[in-house]
Order: sequence, then structure tokens, then C-alpha cells
Amino acid sequence: MSESRKILVTSALPYANGSIHLGHMLEYIQTDIWVRFQKLRGNQCIYVCADDAHGSAIMLRAERENITPQQLIDAVRAEHMADFADFLVEFDNYYSTHSEENRALASLIYTKLRDAGHIATRAITQYFDPDKQMFLADRFIKGTCPKCGTADQYGDNCEKCGATYDPTDLIDPKSAISGATPVLKESQHFFFKLPEFDAMLKTWTRSGALQESVANKIAEWLDAGLQEWDISRDAPYFGFEIPDAPGKYFYVWLDAPIGYMASFQNLITNQPELGLEFEAFWGKDSTAELYHFIGKDIVNFHALFWPAMLEGAGYRKPTALNVHGYLTVNGQKMSKSRGTFVKARTYLDHFSPEYLRYYYAAKLGRGVDDLDLNLEDFIQKVNSDLVGKVVNIASRCAGFIHKGNDGLLIDANPAPELWESFQRASPSIADAYENRDFARAMREIMALADQANAWIAEKAPWALAKQEGKQDEVQAVCALGINLFRQLVIFLKPVLPNLATAAERFLNVTPLRWEDLLTPLANHRLNPFTPLMTRIEASKIETMIEASKEDLAAASTTEPQHSNNGELTKEPVAETIDFETFSAVDLRIARIVKAEAVAGADKLLQLTLDIGDELRNVFSGIKSAYDPASLEGRLTLYVANLAPRKMRFGVSEGMVLAAGPGGQEIYLLSPDSGAIPGQRVK
Ligand code: 2FM
Ligand code: ZN
Repeated sequence: MSESRKILVTSALPYANGSIHLGHMLEYIQTDIWVRFQKLRGNQCIYVCADDAHGSAIMLRAERENITPQQLIDAVRAEHMADFADFLVEFDNYYSTHSEENRALASLIYTKLRDAGHIATRAITQYFDPDKQMFLADRFIKGTCPKCGTADQYGDNCEKCGATYDPTDLIDPKSAISGATPVLKESQHFFFKLPEFDAMLKTWTRSGALQESVANKIAEWLDAGLQEWDISRDAPYFGFEIPDAPGKYFYVWLDAPIGYMASFQNLITNQPELGLEFEAFWGKDSTAELYHFIGKDIVNFHALFWPAMLEGAGYRKPTALNVHGYLTVNGQKMSKSRGTFVKARTYLDHFSPEYLRYYYAAKLGRGVDDLDLNLEDFIQKVNSDLVGKVVNIASRCAGFIHKGNDGLLIDANPAPELWESFQRASPSIADAYENRDFARAMREIMALADQANAWIAEKAPWALAKQEGKQDEVQAVCALGINLFRQLVIFLKPVLPNLATAAERFLNVTPLRWEDLLTPLANHRLNPFTPLMTRIEASKIETMIEASKEDLAAASTTEPQHSNNGELTKEPVAETIDFETFSAVDLRIARIVKAEAVAGADKLLQLTLDIGDELRNVFSGIKSAYDPASLEGRLTLYVANLAPRKMRFGVSEGMVLAAGPGGQEIYLLSPDSGAIPGQRVK
């Protein structure tokens, strides 16, 4: 094997204000597989990440929940770390951008850029919320689209007609935070002079650092001409204050990628025994490789701003960006109401992480195409490939070695051509992993598993075992079977680390490395065989989907909604709607006649509502705040014409209204006494 490489790898830093979901997991699993492959090959490969903890969305969420931003980001980081660990994503370090290392590095990089003349300052005019006393980012302003007249559109584009515009073009703008009418106000901003890096970026983006389609996209931006980048935000803001500029903060995207460096620096400090040096990985003359795995939505930050910042401040640039597409589920965008917006934890409550790791691997190519998680195909593929093909080889052979030869695997190779074909496949599988064509790697590995199974079926040790004098042949067939299984485990180890550990225990070997492919086991005692993986039960898919709907039911009374990447997309907003829209909601008085906990649901209560002439059944995510018995007899407000929703526990017919941030702070709305069930609320 060639000399060991020094490699530093990152995944995008998830925002510290939302849960990890299966869309996020695509990237972390892809990166983790690549990193584990490098480690298995004997390379030095360091994988760092962190929570992206800054910005106004995080500040506002903490405020809503009545906690400090630090409390919020600590709690979310702990949740993220548990999700990643349980998905077997093994970071060498997982940190936070709100750290002293990041503050020092962001200040240093900024100062270097400023002293080299790459920073400009000038006044800009922006919308300001007079109630909240803060400037409003585009997504915190809503109003009527100036093109098509649709109400309730964000400050930068219209979801209805697709128009893009400035927030000042919106008709009847309102602050999405307080509902106040924003006013225009001027303030001094700091800009990074990106156009000064135009020539460098034109070269770097065509140097092989980007996939071709990504380079083409970037070329469109480069050809259109680069703009200076606004890197400051005014107080109040949750972030780092800019040196020598009181009341001015770095925009979250300025210090986020520096968080990659800060996490690496933190690893150096925490684990000096690793002997890592900052300069060796980040210095201008670094010979280490540096890869950022990201989604296609954030290439502008990583392919333009970030390399320009690194160049301007005297650091090395990334070796490559590894960009992936989005996740769809059953062919469609993940949807909260269909229950396909699945949180990492909800998945883990139902399935082994390795099923998803394998499925993603089987579908991930090196391009930026979207990946579809088709849930039927998921069951089929995992059951047929992992359980039916790979694990099956070991379970078919182990018993004969234990029963017939006391667990001793003999020295035998009764099908040298089969062994050879495994050997020949190894460079190609390694090449597929190296180039992130995991789908090809999985196809080639499963083709080998098919060959092994076909050969074992042809030899039929179960039939031989019943014949006189065939004991040696049975042992030889099974010895090769187990050795081929061991080869497959090595090939699959980056994807299925737990399966590999269990197999190593059964094989009674130290942790397998890629180079072990060359040396079969012989005259070697095995440990007793225990089942290594079980089939996916199809019914559990439905249970997971229902649990995701339940997450939604609980969240809809407690949390604002988050987009695919976890960023806040909807704020409580006082918007105007026309009377017709309001009257479309059939809002009624209801009496809670029965309230009870739902077996198997952490957050839901089942309510039986009397709405005058009939009873309705509603599942509501208010369990954390109410003892069910205390609700019985109480009047509340009920949305009677919400489309019924099928849940695991039954059909939810409409919804009761509540306010509050969640947890114990949920306030069920009630009319004054005297209101009568069934009365329409107007
Ligand atoms: O899009 C996002 O989710 C960002 N939090 C990613 C940041 S990646 C890096 F630059 F920090
Ligand atoms: Zn429009």
C-alpha cells in the first residue's frame, strides 16, 4: 500500500436550533463512510464538525423559550451528538462555533483580511423593527408580493410567482417577529471585497476541486460578476463582536466555516497525544488534503467566500468540495403532514442505523443528484442484500464448523478461482469508495456475495453433512464460506461498523483492516455464532411514519417550523388575511368530555370533544403540560373543518388551540364559562 495520507474532513455544521433529520443524515453518513474507508486503508484521516450556533434565528428562539442562547445551544448540541453517535457517525471532534477557539480564529482572520485591505465599510439602509429595536433580515419581513399581489410573502422572494425583489419592494411590509411596520434605517456595515479574488477563484474552481456541474454553476456567478459580501450585523445579534467595532457582529456565515478550523484546534488541545499541528493542515504550505462535504444549497459559501477568505488571510484552500444533492422520500420532498419528515431520533426509535447507512450507500453516487429514500425499496434492499446475501453466508456455514469440527476453521481453499475473483475485485471497490461512488462499491460487493452464495448452494454442505465420508469436504466448503464472508465484512466495514464488530467477535479476530483481505483465516478457532442482523419488519415503517406525524402534532402546538437544513423558516406573525380566508376556518366551542394518555405516544393526549351534536376524537400534543384528568369538563376552542389525519393510534379529527413555547408551558385556549359546545367562534 502507498504511503499514508494526511487528510482532514468536515461535514457542514448543523444549525443549533433544530433537530437532525434524515435529510441531514445523508451528508453525515456519506462523510462518515468515506472517513471510515480512509482509516481502514491506514491513512491518517481526521473528521471534525460542530454546531453552527450563531445568528438571529437562534437568538430569537432562545428568547421565545425564555432561556439564554447558551442554554439553547448546549441542549441542542447534546441532542445532535447523541443522534450522530447512535447513527455511528464517528467524529474525531464535535464542537461549537460559539467557542473561544472560534472567536480567536475569526478575529484573527478578519484582522488579517482588514490589514491586507480586503475589508470595506459603508452605510446601508435596511428595514428596522421599531418594537424589537433590531434590523430585520429578509426572511423576518413579510408582505404582499409586488409582482403578483400574493399576501404573506418573505422579504426576498415570492413563493407563489417566484419573483425575487428587495424587501423595500414588498407592499405593506411587516416585521415577522413583532408584527410592527418596519422603518428604514441606516447603519455602517463591513464588507469583504470578494471581487478582488475573482482571478484566483476562476482558476481554483476549475482546478478539479469541484464536481463539474458545481463548477459550471459557480462559473455562472463568476461570469455575472462578484459582489462585495456584507459580513457584519448590528446588535442585538448572537455571535462574535467584530474587533474594534463595538455593537457590530460577524454575520453567522463569516465564522461558520472558520468553525471547521476551530474544531480542529480544539482537537489539538484536547488530544495532544495525536501530535497534530495546525500549520500542517491549514498553513499555506500544507501537504495535507482538506475536504468539505456539503449539500448543493451552500456551495456559494464554500466555493467562493471561503476559499477567498482563506487565500486573503494566508491559509491553504480546500483540496475539494464534495457536494451532494437533497433527500426525497417516496419520490417527493420530505413532508411533515405525510410523516416523511423523519427526525434522526424517530428513525432510531424504530430501526438499526445500519439499515439506513446501507441504503444511502447503495444509492449514493459521486454526483449532486437528489437521492430518493423509497421506503418499500428500503425494506426490500436491506432484507435481500444484507440479511439474505451477506449474513446468510455466515449463518449457513458456522454451524457445520461448530458441530463438525468444534469451531476450528481448517486451512482449505476448495475454490481458488472464487477466492481470486474476490481478490481481483478489491482495487475496484477501493476505487469506488475513494471516488465516493458508494453505489458502485455496494453493487460490486453484492455481486461477490451472489457468487459466494451460488457456490455454497452448489456445494450444499447441508446435504454433504448427511453423507458418509464427506466430513472433510463439508469443513473445506465452510472454511472458504466463512473466509468469503470475512472478505465481505472488510469491504462493508466503512458502511456497517457494528456488523463488522459483531463479525469480528464471531470470527475471533482483532479489528479488521483493508490489508487483511490478502490473508485468509486458517486453522483458526471461531466463537459461537449469534445472528448478526435481522430483517426489517414492514409494519415498522408505518409506525415510524405515524410517530413522525406525532412529532408534528406535538411541534405544531409548540415550535415554529424549520426548513430542510434546520433553519427557521416561519416566525409567529401578525399578518393580515382577508375575511373570506378567516371565515373558511370553522372554529367552534368544544367541551373535553374525556382526556387520556395514548399508549406508545410520548407527547399526545387523546381528547374526546363534545361539539354540540356530535363527539369528535382529537390527538393533541399537550401531554407535557396537562394531567389528562384536569382537562375533563373544560371548554376549549376547536378547529372543526381541518382535514382528518390518520395516525398510528386512530384518526385525529381536527385540532384544539393552544399557545406557548412548549414543554410545561402550553396554554390551552378556553372561552369564558357560559359558552356552549358547538357554538361557532366569530
Ligand atoms: O446550512 C447550514 O445548515 C449551515 N449551518 C452550514 C454551515 S457549514 C459551515 F460553513 F459552517
Ligand atoms: Zn408573487
